[in-house]
Amino acid sequence: IKAEVMTLNRLISRRHVLRTGAAFTAISTLSPARVAMAGPTEDPFLLRAAAGQAALRPAPYGPTDVWSYNGSLPGPEIRVRQGDRIRVLARNGLNEGTTVHWHGIRTPNAMDGVPFLTQDPIPVGGEFLYEFDALDAGTFWYHPHQRSSEQVGRGLYGPLIVEEANPIRVDRDLTWMLDDWRMTGDGQIATDFGTRHDAMHGGRIGNSVTTNGQIPDRIAVRSGERIRLRLVNAANARIFGLDFGGLAPVVVALDGQPVSPHVPDDDIVVVGPAMRVDLVIDMTGKPGESLTITDVFYRDLEYRLVDLAYGPDRLRDAVPDWSMELPPNPLAEPDMQAATRHQIIFNGGMMGQMMMGGGMGSMMEQMREGNMWFINGKAATGHMMDPLLVLPQGTSHVLQMDNRTAWHHPMHLHGHSFRVITRNGQPTRHREWQDTVLMAPEERVEIAFVADNPGDWMFHCHILEHQAAGMMGIIRVDPGTTKT
Ligand code: C2O
Ligand code: CU
Repeated sequence: IKAEVMTLNRLISRRHVLRTGAAFTAISTLSPARVAMAGPTEDPFLLRAAAGQAALRPAPYGPTDVWSYNGSLPGPEIRVRQGDRIRVLARNGLNEGTTVHWHGIRTPNAMDGVPFLTQDPIPVGGEFLYEFDALDAGTFWYHPHQRSSEQVGRGLYGPLIVEEANPIRVDRDLTWMLDDWRMTGDGQIATDFGTRHDAMHGGRIGNSVTTNGQIPDRIAVRSGERIRLRLVNAANARIFGLDFGGLAPVVVALDGQPVSPHVPDDDIVVVGPAMRVDLVIDMTGKPGESLTITDVFYRDLEYRLVDLAYGPDRLRDAVPDWSMELPPNPLAEPDMQAATRHQIIFNGGMMGQMMMGGGMGSMMEQMREGNMWFINGKAATGHMMDPLLVLPQGTSHVLQMDNRTAWHHPMHLHGHSFRVITRNGQPTRHREWQDTVLMAPEERVEIAFVADNPGDWMFHCHILEHQAAGMMGIIRVDPGTTKT
């Protein structure tokens, strides 16, 4: 990782050189193209995946070849109201099969976009109509689930925002999709996808971080304004830990779901791959000032994400007393008394217990076949497999998850949001509902949920190289055994 991020630092110092030149322009807004959903009788929204180009690097550098949706990077921001029906016609303009997965959205199983499991991959030149209701308000995103390490890694992703009927009051509502690219010296995407080294370590960590597909130098803000900032981590593997340089961002939602508004530990906003964090930030600086947002997640590898620059005027003098409490989504509360407990153990990777200890012969054998990561001793070799768990529809479950590896893993469950109830035995404090939970090395995390959405659902690490190297399983919610 070290050598790679040093390349990033060089890239950033080139930006510092650029700042003194004439080519510098301040970027005031970074908003993806917005799309309102068509009504039920109108044509669905067309989302076309294809090769294209994007200006990831600032001028005077030329464009980068990417794969993107509708020619924009990120793809268009799909924005609907809670309860709306989302209808998207996905068209495949790539040279290989693809799907669209609606990350964090509780869709019917057939709309989940998992190749072979919930649908055939959309063939080259083919189409697939995705259609489902937006049950939950919040910040979500979409991306392919077919060869996702490369398809997402080349730029196929976009935001999906479901607005509350009565949103909290803010002056601006911004979405920042963060991504991390492994770029070559000539500004193209390095083609070394799926290496054994990335799979065994922390995944494909890159050397160039973009916000909404750009490397902005600074973003304009106003003294006194209140911003709702929706952070989405679209990176294959990089975890962000953002320090807002003296501002006190308040976390109001995680993975789209409201939490008790709280200041994050050490004032650092941690966003693992695929996770979303909604922040409310009061811009408490003075007109003319500026501050730097720094990513401090990896020790000794801090870098400047972007500067916020206050304009000359002041919007208001005091911090507004408007509520930050988002209205709850219609999620079924798990019955902790009746819940069935399951133990899930993660193994594998470099420097893991498996590497150190003996007696795990079957995992060693699977490793020889190229699988690096195991859930309860099994590495997935594709999207089709026997379920890890079969849960009767409507029942409550606690998964006690043990990360017996030396690496972080953002574990994602499809089709459901779950309560994160304990970390290393300590109860969580903010009523966290998530769909992706970042587990630290050797950490134990308990999650609880009602298995209320029937079908076979992926349960996997969202470090996409870990997923590809086996860190994936299926949780089946079985309607045939419904309990009433
Ligand atoms: Cu973001 Cu299985 O997906
Ligand atoms: Cu992982």
